[in-house]
Amino acid sequence: MLRETEETETILKLTDYRVGFRTERGLAKAVDGVSLSLKRGSTLAIVGESGSGKTVLNRGVMGLLGANIIEGGSAEFQGKELVNESRQKFWGIKMAMIFQDPMTSLNPVMKVGKQVSEPLRLHQGMSKKAARERTIELFTLVGIPEPAQRFNEYPHQLSGGMRQRVMISIALAIDPDLLIADEPTTSLDVTVQKYILDLLVEIQSKSDMSMIIITHDLGVARGRADEIMVMYGGRVMEMAPAETLFQSMMHPYTEALFSSIPRLNDPKHTRLKPIEGFPPDIVDGPQGCKFAPRCKYAQDICLTAHPPETIDNGHAYSCFFPVGTDAGIQALESNEARGFTATGLKIKSKSEAI
Ligand SMILES: Nc1ncnc2c1ncn2[C@@H]1O[C@H](COP(=O)(O)OP(=O)(O)OP(=O)(O)O)[C@@H](O)[C@H]1O
Ligand SMILES: [Mg+2]
Repeated sequence: MLRETEETETILKLTDYRVGFRTERGLAKAVDGVSLSLKRGSTLAIVGESGSGKTVLNRGVMGLLGANIIEGGSAEFQGKELVNESRQKFWGIKMAMIFQDPMTSLNPVMKVGKQVSEPLRLHQGMSKKAARERTIELFTLVGIPEPAQRFNEYPHQLSGGMRQRVMISIALAIDPDLLIADEPTTSLDVTVQKYILDLLVEIQSKSDMSMIIITHDLGVARGRADEIMVMYGGRVMEMAPAETLFQSMMHPYTEALFSSIPRLNDPKHTRLKPIEGFPPDIVDGPQGCKFAPRCKYAQDICLTAHPPETIDNGHAYSCFFPVGTDAGIQALESNEARGFTATGLKIKSKSEAI
């Protein structure tokens, strides 16, 4: 029964997963062929510039994008195919999501306590009293002061940070197998952020829940994720165990993204800064590698062909001229020598840059 064991161990498996939006200009390929596998109890951090498809990927998997999308490839949750299937039966029981913007995801006309206690009553069969007590316990756990009083308040009566904590309580109330947290802590101050993230990790270690954390904060990605996935233009540029990625990043996009950080080893949380240039058009984007127009390493082939994925010891990357390899070093040196790349991007040589 090995197969069954494998299935129970893998919580989420995406294979060439795609999400497109119909627009006037054509299909906007927000997620363009993502493959990943998430094991029970493990955490994946997704990083990437704004617009790279992080939210669409996860809302797509959750089935929260409505009917007007074109979904393709495969997304299996605990061995069951999700694509073209309703996912409602999993919501609030098996998988939960903490949203980037808690204002839009709480029900404005329902008391916050009820928003947590209702799913407990519905899905866990708790009595009204028990659900209320558990809700107050959860509010206390996530650091909501005067939880009993808060129970009877509406979202608009709470600050952004408190609303976010209510969202986290809802997600935790159901003890999901998969928790997706989309920038879970952006509206919280740094100490609260740390507390909430520690709390999620603590709950995870007790319940063996799997997590996907979408973040712009590399400190979070490094400190709390087993694996990091780097997204760009709806694609996976690179994916590796967290430390491996920091020690030996292979993709020029990862390098550009991470080098915008002043000090990589700074223990303080460091948010990503923009890379020069613009993210690709997802309707009518580059033919070859999507990063080519902004890449210092770009050669002719990068403009016409999609780089194949290399997988080396659990470290996956899609690039013809990976950072630090002979091919990569040569590509960069030749571009620096002529002062521009195959796409015409002007670059400075190393000595000039310093
Ligand atoms: N309903 C929609 N219709 C058309 N395009 C959309 C729609 N929703 C999102 N997109 C596009 O999909 C792409 C990916 O967006 P997404 O919100 O996933 O980015 P993100 O990586 O989460 O960015 P951020 O870091 O800013 O949250 C963007 O180009 C966005 O404009
Ligand atoms: Mg997003």
